[in-house]
Amino acid sequence: MKDVTVVLGAGGIGLAIARRISSGRHVLLADHRQEAADAAAKLLELAGFETTAMRADVSDRSTIQAVIRKAQERGAIKALVQAAGVSPSQAPIEAILKVDLYGTAMLLEEFGKVMAQGGSGVVISSQSGYRMPALTAAQDALLATAPAEDLLALDFVRNVTSTLHAYQMSKRCNSLRVRGEAIHWAKRGARINAISPGIIVTPLAHDELHGERADFYQAMLKKMPAGRAGTPDEIAALAALIMGPEGSFITGSDFLIDGGATANFYYGPDAGHS
Ligand SMILES: NC(=O)c1ccc[n+]([C@@H]2O[C@H](COP(=O)([O-])OP(=O)(O)OC[C@H]3O[C@@H](n4cnc5c(N)ncnc54)[C@H](O)[C@@H]3O)[C@@H](O)[C@H]2O)c1
Repeated sequence: MKDVTVVLGAGGIGLAIARRISSGRHVLLADHRQEAADAAAKLLELAGFETTAMRADVSDRSTIQAVIRKAQERGAIKALVQAAGVSPSQAPIEAILKVDLYGTAMLLEEFGKVMAQGGSGVVISSQSGYRMPALTAAQDALLATAPAEDLLALDFVRNVTSTLHAYQMSKRCNSLRVRGEAIHWAKRGARINAISPGIIVTPLAHDELHGERADFYQAMLKKMPAGRAGTPDEIAALAALIMGPEGSFITGSDFLIDGGATANFYYGPDAGHS
């Protein structure tokens, strides 16, 4: 038996974090596309990791429970990486809310019951959550703490108007949810945080940069104070800090890492546009 890292979403960011934090551990990779899980597992095997690949939909509670059982057969769950998600150009409103908002909240409930002492988790949220119109304090509190099964019935969640709004709402929920969950995870001596990336070069970002909102994303990229897009490895470096021993005082927090895009959105020359 080895300590286990569980990765949901075996894409660009999930794989980079898994590789960075999992030396000496078993890595379980779950993705709703079996071929994505298999491909990531193969890469990690060739880099010296022990792996398990499985198909799993993060919006299905019984599937998440099956992922947990499989992980526990391998060893104690020391790390959770929630990097499964769909973007505004990839799916309709209902699917975005079900996967990104409900799925993330539900799996944090489930993993919060089983994390090993000293374990830690990270949710990949997004800068998008920082751009949506302000919610009330009461709405924020519901996103942080309402039972996962109740989230999709909240009126302000049901009233989202576009796939972009659904994504922003979901990511706002992800970033707040770790505050609510940090209280529960602490009972097991475990920590949970979120990372909110800007444009990071992965297949998902490719779909945004070339999809129906291409102009908006290309403009954001051009005006980014950092002058370039980020890489999955830069997200992994931050995750390693937060999840490792030097991050042991960090829980219930969200970290924006976006090359200055949010700063530009609020305070740049044409604030509010990109
Ligand atoms: N790349 C960016 O610019 C960027 C920016 C901000 C936030 N994010 C977030 O980072 C996370 C990871 O995205 P990425 O950039 O690595 O993209 P990616 O496309 O490389 O990986 C996403 C993975 O999630 C999987 N997935 C989708 N729906 C799923 C489901 N229901 N169940 C299980 N797996 C599912 C996909 O098959 C894919 O392998 C996402 O939540 C995304 O919203 C990405």
